[in-house]
Amino acid sequence: MLSREELRAALQDRGLSQVWLPAEQIGPEAVNRLEDDLLQIDWELFDRQRKALRRSKEQPLPAIAPPTLVAPSKQDGTKEQQTAREIGEAALREGGIAILTVAGGQASRLGFEGPKGAYPLGNISGASLFQIMAGQIRRLREVYDCNLQWIIQTGPGNHNETQDFFAKRNHFGLGASTMRFVCQGTLPALSPKGLFLLAAPDKLFRNPDGHGGVYRAMKMSGTINDLRKQGVHTLFYCQVDNPLAWIGDPVFLGHHLQQDARMSVKVVEKTEPTEMVGLVVASDDRNTCVEYSDLSEEIQAERADDGGLKYRAGNIAIHAFALDFLEEMAEANLPLHMARKEIRCLSSDGVTSTPRDGVKFESFVFDALPLARKSVIQLALREEEFAPVKNRSGVDSIQTSREALDARSKKWIELAQIAAPLAPPKHGGELECGLCLGPEDLATRKTELAWFCNNQILGLKRRVDG
Ligand code: UD1
Repeated sequence: MLSREELRAALQDRGLSQVWLPAEQIGPEAVNRLEDDLLQIDWELFDRQRKALRRSKEQPLPAIAPPTLVAPSKQDGTKEQQTAREIGEAALREGGIAILTVAGGQASRLGFEGPKGAYPLGNISGASLFQIMAGQIRRLREVYDCNLQWIIQTGPGNHNETQDFFAKRNHFGLGASTMRFVCQGTLPALSPKGLFLLAAPDKLFRNPDGHGGVYRAMKMSGTINDLRKQGVHTLFYCQVDNPLAWIGDPVFLGHHLQQDARMSVKVVEKTEPTEMVGLVVASDDRNTCVEYSDLSEEIQAERADDGGLKYRAGNIAIHAFALDFLEEMAEANLPLHMARKEIRCLSSDGVTSTPRDGVKFESFVFDALPLARKSVIQLALREEEFAPVKNRSGVDSIQTSREALDARSKKWIELAQIAAPLAPPKHGGELECGLCLGPEDLATRKTELAWFCNNQILGLKRRVDG
């Protein structure tokens, strides 16, 4: 960290000395508080922010081609899939895997106060997104007899609330010591001319550094080191907004490990050019992920010989990471994405607050993909693995996600050949959180199942066959 004198010099060199004025008008204590805040600035990163601001346009896209895809995990009839499953299962059993979920965002788009993971999505039970994921982790621990760790990346706006949410619910039976809450960092927002914006005379205006901040947060919090000491070498990554995420999918993990990949990704087939998912594409000898907003409509609408979209590998933000690669990415200078917005901050009078033009910066997890010398891109079946909750209504909404969960439960019950008295009624049923990982797992528990007609949750009861 800089000394106070060095800080003054760093500000002066960059033409930022006016930042002191409002604090100086208040007095030395306010100046000290601002100084403490400014001492947290990473100047190398700050200079990159300013450089990004000066770039008039985003970089032009390199030549791209559709990536090579591995078949979905469910179609596991082939020998290859079976081998991958065995490798992934062995890694789970040996304790080499941990789960990482990014949950730094608020649920404001859903009109819900609080962390998004706390949203009660369960059709009947009202189970939260966190609870649905916790259930899967509990079951994975049972099936693979391991102590699977769960790391949740929170944001400055929901860190305490998220921890409280879990504490009040006894960590859904997972055990507090096997969970970790890692708070992502922030970046200062800047004026279009590259000056600091102030939230108050003694405080910079900052915003969360994007889910790409997870790399730094994992390293700075000591989590990567601790995981390594515990024998973890690979992370399974997912977003909190997708209750269908097949957490810890052993086939996906197996492919990733077998190919010695650094970062892998699951994709679903994009069928509509306008669907708002990022696209995984090949460029040179690497894979890369391009956000939909950065691709022209023409490219997104191009067709392949089979009539489907040429670029159809839609990123569902499920990854596998080699732990070493995750650590490298903490120092990797990932691109900074900018959002030009009106920001409510201190006006030039240094007293009142007012909306001003500003620029927020963040980094994205998937920008690490082209830095991975090897990556596996695996197709997932949308109806099995992807129904994110992004909006209050319409596409990717609470309703569409609930419907997808419901449809999948029905399908699993059918595939597991659960007899009629146990089958759910036509209109909405729910599999209890933590009951099973899929139809095969459900089938193994047939004798333990009971159908609770009154609450329509197909759950675990004492063995019904005595
Ligand atoms: C994201 C991806 C998109 C992908 C889609 C799949 C981006 C820019 N795009 O879109 O390629 O197809 O998911 O659903 O991410 N989060 C944090 N900290 C932050 C910001 C977000 O932890 O600072 C977490 C959120 O809690 C959420 C996830 O990251 O779990 C996704 O963020 P969101 O902004 O909702 O991404 P999308 O634009 O929906």
